[in-house]
Amino acid sequence: MNRIDITQGLSFSRIIYGMWRLSDDDDTSPAHVQAKIEACLAQGITTLDQADIYGGYAAEEVLGTALKAAPALKEQIEVVTKCDIVAPMGRYADAGVKYYDTSRAHILASVDHSLRLMDIDKIDTLLIHRPDPMMNHHETGAALDEVVTSGKVRAVGVSNFKLHDWTLLQSAMKTPLVTNQIELSLTAQQGFTNGDVAYLQERNVPIMAWSPLGGGTMMTGTGAVQDALSKVAAENGVDNSAVAVAWLLAHPAKVLPVMGTNNINRIKALSDALKVTMDRETWFELYTAARGAEVP
Ligand SMILES: NC(=O)c1ccc[n+]([C@@H]2O[C@H](COP(=O)([O-])OP(=O)(O)OC[C@H]3O[C@@H](n4cnc5c(N)ncnc54)[C@H](OP(=O)(O)O)[C@@H]3O)[C@@H](O)[C@H]2O)c1
Repeated sequence: MNRIDITQGLSFSRIIYGMWRLSDDDDTSPAHVQAKIEACLAQGITTLDQADIYGGYAAEEVLGTALKAAPALKEQIEVVTKCDIVAPMGRYADAGVKYYDTSRAHILASVDHSLRLMDIDKIDTLLIHRPDPMMNHHETGAALDEVVTSGKVRAVGVSNFKLHDWTLLQSAMKTPLVTNQIELSLTAQQGFTNGDVAYLQERNVPIMAWSPLGGGTMMTGTGAVQDALSKVAAENGVDNSAVAVAWLLAHPAKVLPVMGTNNINRIKALSDALKVTMDRETWFELYTAARGAEVP
């Protein structure tokens, strides 16, 4: 599996395994989580995507318990995690409302929680999870610089940011933002035309694409997208999901799909996307099916 450079001494696997649904699995035992990670590693998928809030602030600990039981895994993975969402559950059960917190105090405390819960010495990349309408960019930018210079975090980035959010935050930072994690898929394809991808592509910034299968809806429904996926899948001898991921990989921007399956057999097949031939005509065949109309 090819790799994408993020910053000096850090690269991500082209396909990333997301752990949003990790604690929804019936089996969250260390052995099972370890089996999932090993199934990823066997294909060259080394980058894991987490967030403090996943599983109601429980998913980082599920990963950490597995890493504690199999510490050798820590040397073979990169961990991405996120902060800023405070929802009234888990350790924030007392919050009166769901809100975003990009203050220095929150970022520093969240990093310490994540390191402890995941039983790791360093977060490879920390993302601000959602743009905060109350963000003081000087404070947030300085806090992100601080977690990098303190050695607790290797690189920092954002998620769900628009260009104006990105430039505001970056203007107050010394450290470069290394990625924006956005929703991008055949069924959430607006990013390819509304500027979200273009500004990152212009800056040569890798894009982490969340819910590349539309959260699974693309795999279960019926219609033009499913028919188009099935046709290309049959031609390439792969599953429909591999085609949906290959559609993202084929784009000339550096798009890194973040996959979310809990099914071990599906995890074992995540790299099948690399087997798919996706020429321009095939790309537009899928794009057209998903848009519901041919391009003007
Ligand atoms: N930054 C953000 O704001 C944000 C937001 C959402 C997600 N994310 C990240 O993106 C990752 C991926 O998100 P996601 O889980 O929504 O991604 P996804 O890969 O689009 O969807 C995964 C879902 O699809 C189902 N699925 C996969 N293949 C299937 C098939 N062949 N048939 C039926 N169902 C199938 C999976 O069920 P099974 O488990 O049964 O396979 C799972 O429920 C998350 O883990 C998280 O790391 C980030």
